[in-house]
This record gives sequence, C-alpha cells and structure tokens, in this order.
Amino acid sequence: MLIKPNHLVMRIIASTLQFLCFSGCILAQDMKPITLNPPDLKRGLPVMEAFSLRASATEFSDKKLTLQDLSDLLFAANGINRKDVSKRTAPSAMNAQDVDIYVFMQEGVYFYDPLNSVLTPVVAGDQRLIVAARQVAFAKAPVMLLLVSDISRFKMADEAAKLDAAGKDAGIVSQNINLFCAGTDLITRPRGTMDLEKIRSILKLKESQRPMLNNPVGYPVK
Ligand SMILES: Cc1cc2nc3c(=O)[nH]c(=O)nc-3n(C[C@H](O)[C@H](O)[C@H](O)COP(=O)(O)O)c2cc1C
Repeated sequence: MLIKPNHLVMRIIASTLQFLCFSGCILAQDMKPITLNPPDLKRGLPVMEAFSLRASATEFSDKKLTLQDLSDLLFAANGINRKDVSKRTAPSAMNAQDVDIYVFMQEGVYFYDPLNSVLTPVVAGDQRLIVAARQVAFAKAPVMLLLVSDISRFKMADEAAKLDAAGKDAGIVSQNINLFCAGTDLITRPRGTMDLEKIRSILKLKESQRPMLNNPVGYPVK
C-alpha cells in the first residue's frame, strides 16, 4: 500500500532537517583552524603609488584569495609587527587594541588570532550575506573582513567616549586594508552597511563587542 505523507508530516520532516542544518552551522565542528603564512614584507607598490591608486571597489571577482594574500592582508590590517611589545600594524587609542577581525568566507566565519597567526573557526557555512545586507552584490567577494571593537578594553568610564575611540580605531584598521589592497593586486571597499542584529546573533557577540565597519576584499573582475 502506498502511504501518502500528509502536509503535517512533510512540515515536521522539513523543520527537523532545517534544525539539523542550523545546529551544524552554529557548532562549526567540521571546520579546521587555518594557519597563516608569515607576511611577505617585500611585496607591493611604493607607498605613494599605493596612495595614488586607492579607490573603493564596486565589483568583485568570486576567485578565492591565496593563503599568502589572506595572510598578508590580515597582517597589514591589524597584525602584530613588534612582537617584543605585542603592538600592531594599526595604532589604537590608549593601546587598547580593541579591534578584532572576523573573516567571512564561503566555508564559514573565522576569528583572526594575530598572536598565533591563526584563523580560528567561529561559525560554519556561508554568512557573507549578513555582512553585505541590502548591498547583496558585495557578498560575491571571497573574503569579508568584519571589524569588531570590544569597547570593554577601554579603561575610561564614559560609553560615548569608548564608542568614539572605537570608531576611530576601526577606521584606521580599515584604512590599513584599503592601502594594502591599493598597493597589491587586491581590491576592497570600506562599508558601514551590515545586518547588525543577525551578526550579533550568529557570532554570539558580547554586549561590549561592537561591529564598526567591514571591508569586502577580492580580485577585480577581469
Ligand atoms: C566610514 C565609511 C562607511 C562607508 N560605508 C559604505 C557602505 O555602507 N556602502 C558602500 O557602498 N560604501 C561605503 N563607503 C564607501 C564610500 O562610499 C566611498 O569611500 C566614497 O564613495 C568615496 O569613494 P572612494 O573611496 O573611491 O574615494 C563607506 C566609506 C566610509 C569611509
């Protein structure tokens, strides 16, 4: 006898599958850390040529970044360039080092650990659309760097002052990305647009962690 599944059964199966997929996504169990290469300190255009080429990109190729490009990009953005004092390529107000970078790629989201030069898995699955938000075309970029300031790292009491410093610090990290791309074969665009609510929920951010800016990064369309 042929059993016809009714609508209720179908809906239960669909929601179970959805739940299994969703829990898989947030557990990120299948992702492995990515060990970054040491930065190539000899690459790129002279700094004045890079300034002359800096521009915000509007269209990205979906070609994935090489490991060296990804490694150099993150070092330039906010890597540790003075190991003896644990200081960064980007300055920060009162040396709070408040800006963390979440790396959104097709396979999932990673956290940039500059001390160990490693990307640590945070969430599996392609989450670039929540960074792109209404500007969906930017989700085609193979990498989207999300700059999150943890304002609890500022010692002053006033929240407005913390947010002011956080915005400035994130702006400097973003400009490091802009200039690195201008000096290499990569392109980028600094962006304030993003789906804050979904980002907070997917990344399980603490109250003190404030997404400030993002930079899609990739290669130009040929
Ligand atoms: C703080 C900041 C936020 C920005 N936010 C967005 C954005 O949400 N979406 C976007 O397409 N461009 C954004 N931009 C890029 C500007 O539109 C772009 O820098 C401006 O048009 C000047 O172009 P240029 O960077 O090529 O000189 C942002 C730029 C800055 C500095």
